[in-house]
Amino acid sequence: MIILNTFAWVALFVAHIVSTATSPCLVQDEDKNETAVDCSHLLLTSLPPLDFYDVTSLDFSFNTLSFLHGSSFSRLTQLGHLDLSHNVLQTLDKQSFQGLRELRKLDLSSNNLSDLPSGIFVDVPNLEVLKLDHNKLKTLGRDIFRDRTHLRHLDLGNNDLQVLNNDTFSHLPLLTWLGVGSNRLERLEAGAMTGLNSLISLDLSHNHLSLIATVFPPRVFASLGKLQVLHLEHNDDSQNGEYPDNVFNDLVSLTSLTIDTFSDMNFGQDFAALRNIHTLDFSGNCKIRHLANDSLEGFKNSSLTFLHFEGCGMNDIELCAFCELLSLKQLWIIDQHWMTPNKALESLYGLQFQNMTEILLSNVGDYLQFLHVIDSHSARFLRNICVSSLSMVHSGLQRLAGNALTVRNSPFLNCIEHADFSQNRFMGDTSAFVKLITSKGRLRTLSLQDQHTFSIGDAQCLVSQDFGCKEDLVIGFHHVTTIVVNTPPNLTYLNISSVFPHFNPLPVNITFPSATKLEALDLSYLGMANCYATWYGLQNLKTFNLNGNYCFNISETMFDFLDSLKQLGLSRIGISPDFFLSRGWRLFQNLDRLEALDLSRNNLQFADPEMLRAQTRLTKLDFSFNRFQTVPVNVDNHGDLKMLDLSHNFLTTLTSSEQSALDSLAGRHTFSLKLVGNPLECACYNLDMVQWLWHTSVSLDGEGREANYTCTTGSGEITSTERVMAQWMSHWRHCVGSQIFGIAMSAFLLQILSIVVVFVTARSWTQLCYAWKAVRRHRLPRRHNFRRDAYVVYSDVERDVILACVKLREVLEEIYSVRLLLPDREDLPGSVKAETIVQHIDHSWKVVLLVTRDFSQDEWACGFTVQQAQRSITDTMPDRVIVVFFEEPRVLPAMPSLRLLLRMVPERNILHVHRDTPPQHPVWKTLADLITREQS
Ligand SMILES: *[C@@H]1O[C@H](CO)[C@@H](O)[C@H](O)[C@H]1NC(C)=O
Ligand SMILES: *[C@@H]1O[C@H](CO)[C@@H](O)[C@H](O)[C@H]1NC(C)=O
Ligand SMILES: *[C@@H]1O[C@H](CO)[C@@H](O)[C@H](O)[C@H]1NC(C)=O
Ligand SMILES: *[C@@H]1O[C@H](CO)[C@@H](O)[C@H](O)[C@H]1NC(C)=O
Ligand SMILES: *[C@@H]1O[C@H](CO)[C@@H](O)[C@H](O)[C@H]1NC(C)=O
Ligand SMILES: *[C@@H]1O[C@H](CO)[C@@H](O)[C@H](O)[C@H]1NC(C)=O
Repeated sequence: MIILNTFAWVALFVAHIVSTATSPCLVQDEDKNETAVDCSHLLLTSLPPLDFYDVTSLDFSFNTLSFLHGSSFSRLTQLGHLDLSHNVLQTLDKQSFQGLRELRKLDLSSNNLSDLPSGIFVDVPNLEVLKLDHNKLKTLGRDIFRDRTHLRHLDLGNNDLQVLNNDTFSHLPLLTWLGVGSNRLERLEAGAMTGLNSLISLDLSHNHLSLIATVFPPRVFASLGKLQVLHLEHNDDSQNGEYPDNVFNDLVSLTSLTIDTFSDMNFGQDFAALRNIHTLDFSGNCKIRHLANDSLEGFKNSSLTFLHFEGCGMNDIELCAFCELLSLKQLWIIDQHWMTPNKALESLYGLQFQNMTEILLSNVGDYLQFLHVIDSHSARFLRNICVSSLSMVHSGLQRLAGNALTVRNSPFLNCIEHADFSQNRFMGDTSAFVKLITSKGRLRTLSLQDQHTFSIGDAQCLVSQDFGCKEDLVIGFHHVTTIVVNTPPNLTYLNISSVFPHFNPLPVNITFPSATKLEALDLSYLGMANCYATWYGLQNLKTFNLNGNYCFNISETMFDFLDSLKQLGLSRIGISPDFFLSRGWRLFQNLDRLEALDLSRNNLQFADPEMLRAQTRLTKLDFSFNRFQTVPVNVDNHGDLKMLDLSHNFLTTLTSSEQSALDSLAGRHTFSLKLVGNPLECACYNLDMVQWLWHTSVSLDGEGREANYTCTTGSGEITSTERVMAQWMSHWRHCVGSQIFGIAMSAFLLQILSIVVVFVTARSWTQLCYAWKAVRRHRLPRRHNFRRDAYVVYSDVERDVILACVKLREVLEEIYSVRLLLPDREDLPGSVKAETIVQHIDHSWKVVLLVTRDFSQDEWACGFTVQQAQRSITDTMPDRVIVVFFEEPRVLPAMPSLRLLLRMVPERNILHVHRDTPPQHPVWKTLADLITREQS
């Protein structure tokens, strides 16, 4: 019974699937009462049966429909919106849309229609929006739009229409938007626009409509009294010509005109009728070579507000070209590659003493072979304009004279709010910018980045460890200790990246007394060769970028007063590789609002994983391009972390606790981890990590969940995590197999051994008893067998003596009760050195070497003592020697004896400590534990 029942259900289920598979989009969920049906992207070649009635919106776009049967939709009497775009329809039946009396929007765009049968739209009397663009229509029947009186929006763009005939649109009194762009129109008949009394926007761009009277008959726009926007660009390619008469003067409501120009053009009296003109856009097909005083004659004293020249190939603008454009607020001069920026500034003559919102010069004169100097003379008209935003970008500017913009009481200096001089080639005198930054005006933003003069070579020199190449770069104010920068009160954004190369060394106290609104400060690639400064007065700064400076010397109090900081860039700052081991916590301690920190490209090797524990709001951490071997941060402290970049480090694996910490982040929100470029291993010990990479919900390297990494197997073979997963069983068997082999082998040997033991014992019982006694007398050495816990070896330079006898002694003896043997405390003057060293080693449980630069140059410490220390390592005391590096080993001179010793010292007995590491730092406890550890 039950079996039968199950069968029935399965059969029903299958039937359901089969029935729905034919047209999945049309399954109507009775409970849901769907009125919008989406059948797009289904590769349908014909319409499925359409016999439901209350659908109001039907989408068949992106299929391969090639024809429509007459009356396909006749039952969809409620349909308001029908989308048939992106199919391959070639012809339509006259009755295609029969019955769609409610249809308001019909989309037939992007098909292959070349013809429309006359009367096709008779059945859709309420159509408001009709899209026929991107088809192959060649002609429009004279009465095709007859009686479509409700049509408001008609798109005929991207077809093959050649002429617009009389009265084509004469029955569309409500049409407001008409697109006929990108056709092959060569001519407008005199009555082509008749009847378009409501038209607001007309697109005739990208056709072949020459701007001459035979193409634009006089008064062809006579009925367009309400037209506001006209696109006529990309029609006429001729260099010389004149606008046809008696055509544009009917466009009395026009606000925006985009039109082709001629090399010497003249907007004459016809254009004076455009009383409402606001925007004149010459960005489409601009050919003005020479803008004369009378070129814009018709617009003088008009309401023209925005003038946009782009890509014209201009080489000259006459002095009074913009005279009497009294309403002009915005002037854009873009891509005039062969005209000097000075020429453009001269043209501002006519705009003097006006109030403007924006002057933009971009890519002006940038193809010329020489760079440009803006001096007090060339900027004389600009200085007299009250403009709130000035951009002179990518224009080959080399120098802005100190007095170019900033003559006292010039309107410019009082008005300017946003200044952008980025992407030029400024070098040398930067006093003009200093004046802007320290002005008392309204300046809010200043961008000076990307000057292309501070070469990457310089930057590399600065961040390299090579002191030689920096000598030439380091210039500047050595003696200054305090600098006070009085910025304008409303300054919020200041980017002077790479403008003042070799800005160093920094004063110790940098104070911004009035920068209370400054939110973003970009000082990257400035060639600072020193970060030993504390920044005061920037309590609202949110973004601070110091990338690409050389901060080998960094003040721990540097960020103490940046209370609001959210983003901090410290990439490529040449900081010492272990700085963050001991001093990171101090450096960041006050930045408790930090959200993004970039420490990439610093050759960092060590960091205290707890150094960022105060930064609980971190969402983005970038440690890429360093040399970390473990995850340098404790992610448990950062519940909001969304992005951790560890790419291009020296990680070989992720431990299981790191894996679970990362998983728990990914459980909370999307969390991405970048790991690419690490020498990952896929060996037996970390097969779990390979599996983790595969299954974790952490988004890895932004490539979705199943990221694939190159890795090395235990035998040194290069493979990929993807391949290891694919051959998972064989890897697993190999790994488990080798373990089992090990176990089996040991068991076998044990067996043999026991046989031998039984045999030997039986034969020589007395001898064995005697031998056992001997062994017991020589038991493993213990800590209490020695007079002292550790003999400390250090150089006799004063710094090191203080390090050992004061700092180390205080920490180890007073906090951790370790008994030290310090030569300076024990040795009698005049004792024979070699002998005492040997004695000291014999009397001490451990030998601790303090390796510093001086140590490496000390003959006794580094030569003889190290040799003796090496000898003291025995099989019974393999852990005897502990090496503490106070200097990055890489930068120390080679010490052959130390190298030999290091081969015998286990890795855990080698520590890296900084001279200034505070007594409470965990590294001291590690050292104390290493010293007092008993071997088992
Ligand atoms: C379907 O939905 C429309 C509005 O969404 C509602 O007016 C109508 O009553 C619904 N019909 C049924 C049968 O639920
Ligand atoms: C179009 O209409 C104009 C009058 O508006 C008339 O002069 C012209 O001859 C007509 N052209 C054609 C081809 O009918
Ligand atoms: C410019 O604006 C100032 C006020 O900001 C006004 O006093 C001055 O009359 C304006 N000048 C012109 C030419 O509109
Ligand atoms: C600074 O901005 C405020 C508010 O936007 C404005 O009222 C004030 O006039 C500005 N100060 C200056 C010096 O421009
Ligand atoms: C930094 O300089 C400013 C201005 O001279 C001064 O007011 C401030 O006290 C100085 N701060 C410190 C810590 O020296
Ligand atoms: C995974 O990476 C290895 C080498 O890095 C490559 O050979 C392999 O094609 C990759 N597999 C996939 C599916 O991308």
